[in-house]
Amino acid sequence: MIIEPRVRGFICLTAHPKGCEQNVINQINYIKSQSAINGPKKVLVIGASTGFGLASRITSAFGSDAATIGVYFEKPPQEGKTASPGWYNTAAFETEANKAGLYAKSINGDAFSNEVKQQTIDLIKADLGQIDLVIYSLASPIRTNPKTGITHRSVLKPIGGSFSNKTVDFHTGVVSTVSIEPANEEEIQNTIAVMGGEDWEMWIDALKAENLLADGFTTVAYSYIGPAVTEAVYRKGTIGMAKDHLEATAFTITDKLADLNGKAYVSVNKALVTQASSAIPVIPLYISILYKIMKEEGIHEGCIEQIQRLFQNRLYTGDAVPLDEKGRIRIDDWEMREDVQAQVAKLWAEATTEELPSIGDLAGYKTDFFNLFGFQVAGVDYTADVNEMVKVPGLV
Ligand code: NAI
Ligand code: NA
Repeated sequence: MIIEPRVRGFICLTAHPKGCEQNVINQINYIKSQSAINGPKKVLVIGASTGFGLASRITSAFGSDAATIGVYFEKPPQEGKTASPGWYNTAAFETEANKAGLYAKSINGDAFSNEVKQQTIDLIKADLGQIDLVIYSLASPIRTNPKTGITHRSVLKPIGGSFSNKTVDFHTGVVSTVSIEPANEEEIQNTIAVMGGEDWEMWIDALKAENLLADGFTTVAYSYIGPAVTEAVYRKGTIGMAKDHLEATAFTITDKLADLNGKAYVSVNKALVTQASSAIPVIPLYISILYKIMKEEGIHEGCIEQIQRLFQNRLYTGDAVPLDEKGRIRIDDWEMREDVQAQVAKLWAEATTEELPSIGDLAGYKTDFFNLFGFQVAGVDYTADVNEMVKVPGLV
């Protein structure tokens, strides 16, 4: 069929298999263009189908010759109805990995559940024995805790007082003021339950109990800090409380890994257009201003450049991993550069519907958004008939 984007707010209901495939091939080619990484050989990526998790899987496989298992939650295609993008991304990745002689299998289901953890354990036992890296890259609005059966929903709200700031509708370019009422205590706790570190710890506990973690094992989860303009709604808001919990969990997990000389890290990554971030108010306006500045400075990166640098220059240098004063890896260093943030603050004050096209990279934001779903990707013929019923070769 001919597949066109069907956008509803910050999601797109369709995805293009060829565009998703091309995105994955572009990321693979980027990794191949860089020097080899003396990195992990057997890797589990939880949240492996899009964004930073997909980039982590590609970097492990094509940068370090790793066997990879990916866990994700994606909608398969039906006749006449496209899959979600992560399905097509995974199909493309596993096809390319197989061509390169690399092991690549995956599990599609709820990573928060006991069942998916057990399935993953069985697969590692059968095929890999022990693993040396787990990347934890889930972004979800909802989690059912398997121990309590309680379903928690996260919210994106400030804490302590209401928040008002600029935001942009990235489809229309209209800059307006958004006001968000503060979260109550229950909403804060629910957000921590979804996006904090509890499930990450459950995964590592479960894998360790089955003796599936190799000596010197490493696990990494992703966090974000960001600028002053988003602080009230992000880092000091409900999601920030969850990130505080995630960061604290790294220390708890590291303690539990002592007998394996293992380590758990949180890496603080750059703001990027992903399905997760386009849902957060204020962030799209910040990203469009940030992109313009970082592109002008020649320091703009996407997920794949970020994760390549994380592996090459932080995790697998052969030396100790450089950490900030709170024990975190910082790969948001270029975003957070003083000169970059000073320009953001200046342009933020000037941002209006009229000014944004000249001071921000809204066009870049939009292209990245459509690219997430396989649209507007260079080299893809969108007038051609494509088969939506793509199979994921390594799906268990
Ligand atoms: P994303 O939306 O691109 O990826 C989320 C992944 O989680 C997908 O593979 C999806 O299938 C999977 N997933 C969601 N719910 C699941 C479930 N119940 N079971 C199994 N898989 C599930 O998100 P993105 O942006 O790559 O986020 C990953 C992490 O990076 C998050 O912790 C996020 O906070 C963090 N981060 C994101 C930044 C950004 O600007 N996008 C910046 C810094 C950190
Ligand atoms: Na991800």
